[in-house]
Amino acid sequence: MRVLLAGAAGLVGRVTLDLLSERHEVTAFDIRAVQGCNNATKGDVLDCADVAAAMEGQDAVVNTIMAPETTYGRNGPGFTINVSGAYNLLEAARVHGIKRFVHTSSGAVHTGYPPPPETFLSYDLYPLKASGPYALSKVLQEELARYFHEQHGMSIAVIRPWGIIDSERMVANNGKTVTGYYWGTIDRRDVASALVCALEAEDIGYECFYVMATPGGYKAADVARTEERLGWKPRITFDADLE
Ligand SMILES: NC(=O)c1ccc[n+]([C@@H]2O[C@H](COP(=O)([O-])OP(=O)(O)OC[C@H]3O[C@@H](n4cnc5c(N)ncnc54)[C@H](O)[C@@H]3O)[C@@H](O)[C@H]2O)c1
Repeated sequence: MRVLLAGAAGLVGRVTLDLLSERHEVTAFDIRAVQGCNNATKGDVLDCADVAAAMEGQDAVVNTIMAPETTYGRNGPGFTINVSGAYNLLEAARVHGIKRFVHTSSGAVHTGYPPPPETFLSYDLYPLKASGPYALSKVLQEELARYFHEQHGMSIAVIRPWGIIDSERMVANNGKTVTGYYWGTIDRRDVASALVCALEAEDIGYECFYVMATPGGYKAADVARTEERLGWKPRITFDADLE
């Protein structure tokens, strides 16, 4: 497939680029330069001309764009980048006749509920409930994705990770050092493999998938369904239980 990977310079995007490129023709899209990639388009997801140009000739889209964590409060652009940015990608995909879309969401869509083990995180847990502006932006992204499936027949898979790290360097996406694991910890390469499995799954209408990599994470969320539907399993696991 010819795949547009949005957010390709990020913590998840950069390793997704490597994995996707093993089997697909990938165009990387990001507002920042994408190191080591010779098929990258620099652009702003809020600029519809940039997005339309990148969408040309693609068969599928994988979205990993996220605004920096410090930009969600007050008048920061974070909320708009996440929500309007996701809309711009979905709408441009529709206009270009692209049916396949994989979106990176977050366990944040359920943070308005009491945390596990009081709440079991699953595809069926509705309505989505956010706590805070970042979480709300992720809820709205999922609602947009569902809308494009229901109204325009797009095939959309949504991946819901929790605490993503680079376990080789022990850093998070803000560059801060990670000193320990908790039940939601997952390595970025396992999020990337879930995105690739979701892209290649054949019978997706609209579905959301929790991905976890700890014993606690398996107690907190319906990861069994992800394994069964996508044939995905984490390769890197961390020994952390529910608190
Ligand atoms: N990092 C986590 O712990 C975590 C947890 C759960 C879910 N997620 C989700 O995973 C996905 C990937 O997160 P990440 O950790 O790789 O984030 P990241 O910040 O490392 O990467 C996001 C990328 O988006 C790009 N971007 C930002 N604004 C843009 C714009 N206006 N136009 C084009 N590109 C733009 C950035 O340059 C960056 O390369 C996001 O959807 C995020 O919500 C992350």
